[in-house]
Amino acid sequence: MKDLIKKAAEDLIKAKHAIALSGAGISTESGIPDFRGPSGIWSKDPEAEKRAYQSYGKFLEDPKEYWEERLSAPSLLGDLDRAEPNPGHCALAELEKMGILKCLITQNVDGLHEKAGSRNLIEYHGSYLKLRCSKCGSRFSIEEIDLEELRREEKLPPLCKCGGVIKSDVVHFREPIPVDAAKRSQEEAWRCDLMLICGTSAVVYPFAQLPRLAKKHMIEKETKTESGLYVVKQVPAATIIEVNAEPTPLTEEGISDYLIQGKTGEILPEIVQEVKRIVI
Ligand code: APR
Repeated sequence: MKDLIKKAAEDLIKAKHAIALSGAGISTESGIPDFRGPSGIWSKDPEAEKRAYQSYGKFLEDPKEYWEERLSAPSLLGDLDRAEPNPGHCALAELEKMGILKCLITQNVDGLHEKAGSRNLIEYHGSYLKLRCSKCGSRFSIEEIDLEELRREEKLPPLCKCGGVIKSDVVHFREPIPVDAAKRSQEEAWRCDLMLICGTSAVVYPFAQLPRLAKKHMIEKETKTESGLYVVKQVPAATIIEVNAEPTPLTEEGISDYLIQGKTGEILPEIVQEVKRIVI
């Protein structure tokens, strides 16, 4: 483990455009359950996952009913307002402040990366703290629209000034990823020379395509052969590192170069310490 942490720190320092990806695993140490881990929401309640696949269809069919339900049903993720970032979130924010991480793309809707101080952040599956117009794509913070008042006055669903219906910014199963998030994420995945993937099972698409896109990006590199000759070889542009409690399809398919297996809240701060030890 120590060697891999040292290697990750050295790779991060060498990188010119390192980015990070994250999933629900990085927030479990903040008391928010993941989905497919041993005590994940879907693992424990497969029916809940089936219902979640209906949300977007319900919004398209009957947005008033969608909002009635959303305002009365408790969140599957628990009380996100009370959740606080953990050392894993803080470590990624610190790597950004140090100028090492250029961007962070998260699947999490819990807002904890932003709370931890991450700034160049792409919330790929949206945020529970925001609303989004389904027609023009404009986003609003939840404070801007009093949904409870609209409900009392029988004025649900909320409407945008463009006439579009406003939904939660959270991206539901079967809902297209908002164009701005999808485009920026693809650009970052193609551009990066290091991708640090934290706390995701990497089975949900199109997010899980991002590491494969980074892996596909080959560059020409002059390498010295045993006989001392220099040859130009095609090599992957990016080093891909996973930090996760268990192996994922990225590990099994050799998409990632190495997996540091364990808790993000323990491993990521150790990587930051090692970076500091090396650069100082
Ligand atoms: N540290 C490291 N890894 C962890 C930790 C931890 N503290 N806790 C859990 N994990 C691992 C789990 O073992 C699992 O491999 O994180 C992974 C979480 O995977 P998922 O539960 O599938 O979460 P995620 O990959 O983010 O899911 C993707 O699916 O349900 C949808 O929209 C939802 O954004 C979500 C998407």
